[in-house]
Amino acid sequence: MFGKDLPGKAVILLGLLLGAPALQAATHVATASFGKTPDGTAVDIYTLTEGRFEARIMTYGGILVSLRVPDRQGKTDDVVLGYDSLDGYIANNSPYFGALIGRYGNRIAHGTFTLEGKTHTLPKNDGDNTLHGGTRGFDKVVWSGQPIKDGVELTYVSPDGDQGFPGRLTVVVRYTLSRGALRIEYSATTDKNTVLNLTNHSYFNLAGQGNGDILSHQLQIFGSRFTPVDSTLIPTGELRPVENTPFNFRTSHAIGERINADDEQIRYGRGYDHNWVLDHAEGQLGQAAEVYEPSSKRTLRVLTDQPGVQFYTGNFLDGTITGKGGKVYRKRSAFCLETQHFPDSPNHPNFPSTELKPGEKYHSVTLFEFGTATR
Ligand code: BGC
Repeated sequence: MFGKDLPGKAVILLGLLLGAPALQAATHVATASFGKTPDGTAVDIYTLTEGRFEARIMTYGGILVSLRVPDRQGKTDDVVLGYDSLDGYIANNSPYFGALIGRYGNRIAHGTFTLEGKTHTLPKNDGDNTLHGGTRGFDKVVWSGQPIKDGVELTYVSPDGDQGFPGRLTVVVRYTLSRGALRIEYSATTDKNTVLNLTNHSYFNLAGQGNGDILSHQLQIFGSRFTPVDSTLIPTGELRPVENTPFNFRTSHAIGERINADDEQIRYGRGYDHNWVLDHAEGQLGQAAEVYEPSSKRTLRVLTDQPGVQFYTGNFLDGTITGKGGKVYRKRSAFCLETQHFPDSPNHPNFPSTELKPGEKYHSVTLFEFGTATR
């Protein structure tokens, strides 16, 4: 859509033009209290500031609470949905705004999977399926945080049997902000064979959170196939070419262009709510997606070493949530690009494996790189 490293260069050039040498300076990290959960556990919030960029991450759910990014004119806006206070996240049963997702991002069919001949049963929290790790996933626990260079390190120890998943799992997530990019690095170890699929569930609107829908955002996804689903959004197991379907984002298209197409998969998702099979080699950092928002000219480039990305267009938002600054979040007022292994992989031997064994280290990196386009 734009030159390979244009967004980064555009940001630096814009920074120089606007006389913002701080853009190259080290990121400032500040810690503050963000309240308490109903059981009295203290929650902290970390503010990462780099020039005009600012990311705020709290220890409840490891949630990215806000992300301020400059537009083409240098005006900053918060580009992720969420709530102003901790209470908002807890009381409103947040649809995973900005949260860390675990142990298993997206769905596991019928809340069950078999590993080494043993069947594991998980809580069903999405009809007959398990979504985003169960009723109390990593989005609803308090992580322990500590400041690190350019960011924050969050740690959570999930006990053996947590939400039905085997093994005591130690998870470390590092959020860092540098050169206009938010980097999320996930690591984990286990003491028993288990399955794992970690992601972040930020809802983006590059025109600014609460500023209308995302239908005119231009999107490119670097995936030639996707995993079609049944009516409960469980993959059928097929890896289907996107060619000649509304899922072909190999070249840039407005998100809204085909979102209401007469297509069974679009109907099942109520829009886009699907996993793309990324073209890059698994385990190597490669491009997942690029997004351009015409009014602000903001760009977002997503890079990951994961084999898939869930593109979700906020189809379940319905105007019943009032978020930050009193903004009402209507249908399709944001999009998610959740880098991940494919949904329901533990029940699909033909999908890349999500197993983690004792002695192995889970390690994964996703980058959300912001810039502005010159056109
Ligand atoms: C899922 C959607 C779900 C959303 C919020 C996405 O990852 O694919 O179906 O509604 O998360 O829970």
